[in-house]
Amino acid sequence: MTDLYAVLGHPISHSKSPQIHTLFAGQTGEDLLYRAVLVPLDGFADEVSKLIRQQGMTGMNVTVPFKEEAFQLAQQRTPRAERAGAVNTLKVLSNGTLLADNTDGAGLIRDITVNQGVSLKGKQVLVLGAGGAVRGILQPLLEQQPAAVVIANRTVSKAEALAADFADLGRISGCGFAEATPPDGSAFDVIINGTSASLAGELPPLTSSVIGPETVCYDMMYGKGLTVFNRWAREHGAARVIDGLGMLVEQAAEAFELWRGVRPDTAPVMAELRGERRR
Ligand code: ATR
Repeated sequence: MTDLYAVLGHPISHSKSPQIHTLFAGQTGEDLLYRAVLVPLDGFADEVSKLIRQQGMTGMNVTVPFKEEAFQLAQQRTPRAERAGAVNTLKVLSNGTLLADNTDGAGLIRDITVNQGVSLKGKQVLVLGAGGAVRGILQPLLEQQPAAVVIANRTVSKAEALAADFADLGRISGCGFAEATPPDGSAFDVIINGTSASLAGELPPLTSSVIGPETVCYDMMYGKGLTVFNRWAREHGAARVIDGLGMLVEQAAEAFELWRGVRPDTAPVMAELRGERRR
């Protein structure tokens, strides 16, 4: 029997998840259908229950603005989901209850370390933003054992609170954008933009001294051309700029593996999406 999956969000029409999971299914020979569901802003729990009971849905991805609600709804959560406080993946267990996972951070780290070949061990890492997206990546990031992680945010208190929440996992601190300097005073090795500023075409007000000739910049956003942040990073001499398309495909692969027990090959799917973007 064909298993059913969906991504739930509001808005949802822009989502690439149906395409990505359909490509994974074709590649691995898994018998599944995956679609996008637009969920009313006040109807997440009802929709999930309806999809499971009336349509026999076996797994779901969850996107903005329902990731926290999905976390609350699930009866079981993976340790990384517990830390993230928000989830992008739900698996319907055989007894009908929900297991929640957050695969965003693992997807980001896999894209940086495996696909891009950038090691994070011993590195000075600057993370921009202190919202849900950043909370979701901190545990997998700290597991890579960077020398230090600095979280810079417009609202400084949120950066400080987030750093305090993860201080048991490594050397991590919070500050405002103007105070973002690596502990040894040089440029950062890696800068990850996790603010939603790019969505509004805005830039976090950073000093360009955070970037040096060896700095790798990663924007968790992606778009048709260079993101605003990556354009700024390139103009200020970053060694490399990378956008979040790889993270998107890797978080999907991680969810696919949780559901199906098979790890898809992400490279051809990324090539397909990048090719479409150029067309
Ligand atoms: P998400 O789920 O995408 O993380 P969020 O929890 O609303 O969304 O967090 C958005 C993040 O982007 C926050 O860090 C926010 O800064 P504040 O905590 O100060 O609100 C940041 N952000 C949004 N717009 C921004 C802008 N124009 N400049 C700088 N930071 C911005």
